[in-house]
Amino acid sequence: MNRRKTPRSRAPKGRSRAALGPRKVGPENFKHMIRVTVNGVEREATVEPRLLLVHFIRDVLRLTGTHIGCDTSNCGACTLLLNGRAVKSCAIFAVQADGGEVLTIEGLAKDGKLNPIQEAFWDNHGLQCGFCTPGMIMTAYDFLRKNSNPSEFEIRRAISGNLCRCTGYQNIVKAVAAAAESMRSAKVTVTARRR
Ligand code: FES
Ligand code: FES
Repeated sequence: MNRRKTPRSRAPKGRSRAALGPRKVGPENFKHMIRVTVNGVEREATVEPRLLLVHFIRDVLRLTGTHIGCDTSNCGACTLLLNGRAVKSCAIFAVQADGGEVLTIEGLAKDGKLNPIQEAFWDNHGLQCGFCTPGMIMTAYDFLRKNSNPSEFEIRRAISGNLCRCTGYQNIVKAVAAAAESMRSAKVTVTARRR
């Protein structure tokens, strides 16, 4: 016999809603539609409120350059820029980025040309396995916009939230200093040309 299913929200005739016990709700009932501009492109998705920003970026948008090293907001491998600030994306919910702008490591190179910080990491061998590198570069990107002529101490302090288990940090610090220098001289060249 083909019986019609009784909708969950409505009690069968003669029985009150309370008699049926608590209403069953699953995570799908709480999903939110979010809209985030990622690397200049507007992206839209329906996500659970518990979804972390790093999982949204990696698993929903498939931008796997942002890494996950710890899930406890210690290592900094998941660092990206949210509304212009470097953040650990494993410590933020995707819904918190709704309406915002995200920049990931994939958004740094322009027209096939690496960003000066990426170039400097390449030139100074600022990596070994490369696992920490996207997070290091995104942290350096934010830092160098605020401090274009940092001391070694300031660089070390700026990257202190990013852990590297391979390099001993020497070449990473060199790379950030070299990036600062090349960005400064690029600015000087542009200013000089304008005159
Ligand atoms: S994965 Fe986010 S800080 Fe380690
Ligand atoms: S280069 Fe391997 S963790 Fe930093």
